[in-house]
Amino acid sequence: MKLTTQSLRQMKGVVQIPMLTAYTTPVARALERAGIPVILVGDTVGMVEMGFDSTRHTTIEHMQYHVGAVRRGAPETHLIGDLPFATYSNPEKALTSARALLNAGADSIKLEGPKYEVIAHLVGNGIDVVGHTGLTPQTSKDFRQVGKSSEDAQRILNEAVGIDRAGAFMIVLEHIPAALAERITGTVAAPTIGIGAGASCDGQVLVINDAIGLGDYWPPFSRQYAYTGKTVVEVAQSFAREVRDGTFVNNILQMQASNKE
Ligand code: KIV
Repeated sequence: MKLTTQSLRQMKGVVQIPMLTAYTTPVARALERAGIPVILVGDTVGMVEMGFDSTRHTTIEHMQYHVGAVRRGAPETHLIGDLPFATYSNPEKALTSARALLNAGADSIKLEGPKYEVIAHLVGNGIDVVGHTGLTPQTSKDFRQVGKSSEDAQRILNEAVGIDRAGAFMIVLEHIPAALAERITGTVAAPTIGIGAGASCDGQVLVINDAIGLGDYWPPFSRQYAYTGKTVVEVAQSFAREVRDGTFVNNILQMQASNKE
């Protein structure tokens, strides 16, 4: 059954929230079957699936396509659609962009940074919003951990509090020291979801391609539960070898052969 934003908020401090990203129907179907309660259709799709060097190249049209694909695979899971770079630069623009993702199948939207006025405007128009602070990839220059100095830690804490007060129902904390994430988690009312932010958040999120080891690079704060990239190479090599040496038999031919026996 699909979780509401209210039930997700009630999970804070009670049960941990596991979240994964998804971009395609078969992966979304697998995550729903596995019981993942929240799927983020992240703008990371631009990097991990489309080959761009930054999420800044992901567009609202890309996001509509992928939100639709994920919704078809996971009809019963809460879906967060990520607003791409430059699609929420003012409250009215944000409302149009958010509605585009909701119409494509998202239940809520996520946006990066201290956009308090934008968040309040979306919430005021009945849209559920997830905030995102710490490292914010759309505007980060070097993807290094942030919040290490006391001034920067205070800035991020202030941002989290501002996002919380503006009405976000959940806040992603990315690549910040664990102690800072713990402090933020203890301060804000919204559940915090960490990525590279230590174990004290109210939940954790991983980019699915990182979790399944599909790709060539994985951030140090991610974790690989499999190495799917290697499996794809092995499958392609086996197929090519069988075609070249004449031993390739597809499923139908295999079935016909066994029916004759
Ligand atoms: O776009 C994304 O996948 C994200 C996660 C890294 C949290 O924002």
